[in-house]
Amino acid sequence: MAAVRSGIISFEPVASGLVAFGRCPFIDRHLLLVTRHQQGSHKLYDHIIARDPSATPTPITPILESGFESWLAKQSDATKSWIAANGFEGKRGTQLCLPGADGSVGTVLVGYGDDAKAIWDFAGLPKSLPAGTYALSDDLNDQADLYEKAALGLYLGGYQFDRYRKDDGKKDKRAKIALQDNDAAKRAENIARGIGLARDLINTPANDMGPAELEEAARGLGAQFGATVNAIVGEELLKQNFPAIHTVGHGSDRAPRLIDLTWGDESAPKITLVGKGVCFDTGGYDLKPSSNMILMKKDMGGSAQVLGLARMIMAADLPVRLRVLIPAVENMVSGRAYRPSDILQTRKGITVEVGNTDAEGRIVLSDALTEAASEDPDMLLDFATLTGAARVALGLGLPALFSNDDDLANGLMETGMGENDPLWRLPLWDDYRSQLDSKAADMNNISGSPFGGAIIAALFLDRFADGAKSWAHIDLMAWNPSDRPGRPTGGEAQGIRAAFKLIADRYGK
Ligand code: BES
Ligand code: ZN
Ligand code: ZN
Repeated sequence: MAAVRSGIISFEPVASGLVAFGRCPFIDRHLLLVTRHQQGSHKLYDHIIARDPSATPTPITPILESGFESWLAKQSDATKSWIAANGFEGKRGTQLCLPGADGSVGTVLVGYGDDAKAIWDFAGLPKSLPAGTYALSDDLNDQADLYEKAALGLYLGGYQFDRYRKDDGKKDKRAKIALQDNDAAKRAENIARGIGLARDLINTPANDMGPAELEEAARGLGAQFGATVNAIVGEELLKQNFPAIHTVGHGSDRAPRLIDLTWGDESAPKITLVGKGVCFDTGGYDLKPSSNMILMKKDMGGSAQVLGLARMIMAADLPVRLRVLIPAVENMVSGRAYRPSDILQTRKGITVEVGNTDAEGRIVLSDALTEAASEDPDMLLDFATLTGAARVALGLGLPALFSNDDDLANGLMETGMGENDPLWRLPLWDDYRSQLDSKAADMNNISGSPFGGAIIAALFLDRFADGAKSWAHIDLMAWNPSDRPGRPTGGEAQGIRAAFKLIADRYGK
């Protein structure tokens, strides 16, 4: 077990126990482990259990914030006094345990709001409830939308990345939440597992999440859902004409690769997802200062999004042909690393002068987008932690969206707002294209100006996605800077609930 620890990506329950995919660093072989004895912390969401009809879990009763007063008026005097004594006012996201007749917790009240953010109103419960077994009140059984939001909040509220911590025994004492076996709970579980996969991949430090381990994660996911996974690794990238990925990844001892997952009926509408998989971004010779480098294990956050989204699509068995392309590299400094002013080749045949080795994401994405666009997919989405400039423009919680298709952009924006998974469109501003001109090559990878950096990066990608009829590029942070219920500090899924809903609405059965 110890020998494979560093390669383990995730454990998930399967009929025969738990399955983990890992790569053994000592014998350099791919291993498939099946065990019933998971290290507790590796299992996602083990605070959620199936509802047992013979058990009587403590009910969680949602109270609509705006309906609190009328709800309160109907309660007994004893209940009113308890609520008053505890200062509970039904505010969304607040909770109160009501004592039962025997002095145990009788009911848990939770205030919620009637909008997309309701998910988060429930997310504080898993980590704050006393030990015991709880279930959403049966009154919710015929309110599928609310049940789904509540269930998703309850899943995400129990997320924690503790793979590298000793088990302090606290986990066993955590509250368990029993969910119904209904469609709403299943939808929530699917979304939560996609998000959990993305978060786990991002949170895993770069020493255990290099290009090879990212490939293993894709292979593990593929094996779970019957997808085909191939990878073009190292020098083979040159032979198969992916020179840009090779160039950026060459500076690392860990071989670069293009990970390629395909799934679904070939004749179904084709959805292609491309994710930036820079497993660590030092900046290269344009080295990042330590304050900027510290977070750069998350620079494969785009690839984590597309794997999380692919998981949602495959688990929901959407009738689409899915392809996921991940250029996976480490942007390092070494005697083999690319230099500022180098001129590199791309799959498309466009030569690129390297104005800055830290603008590596757009370079590796260029080859992946060329390949993606060559197949004429019905929808092409790329996710990338591409620019600091997008964060300056919109902050950390609002990914920037660029698209050559107004319907797709509007669909993603609207769905995102409806799901509280927001995206904000910025323009592929034509007038700035010439800022990528180079004196020595077909184009430069940066502009000479410090302004509009997210747009410039998107315009760079546009040259390579050119020909894709419906392309959207999402420039995201993939990281929560602070703790909120259901959204702990660390890796985050952004935009993939929106994308999943849009894809399911457009192409679902
Ligand atoms: N991975 C970074 C972008 C990034 C930094 C995203 C911080 C989110 C948070 C990317 O590779 C990068 O370094 N971009 C440069 C581009 C510049 C050199 C034109 C940037 O944004 O500073
Ligand atoms: Zn960079
Ligand atoms: Zn980067």
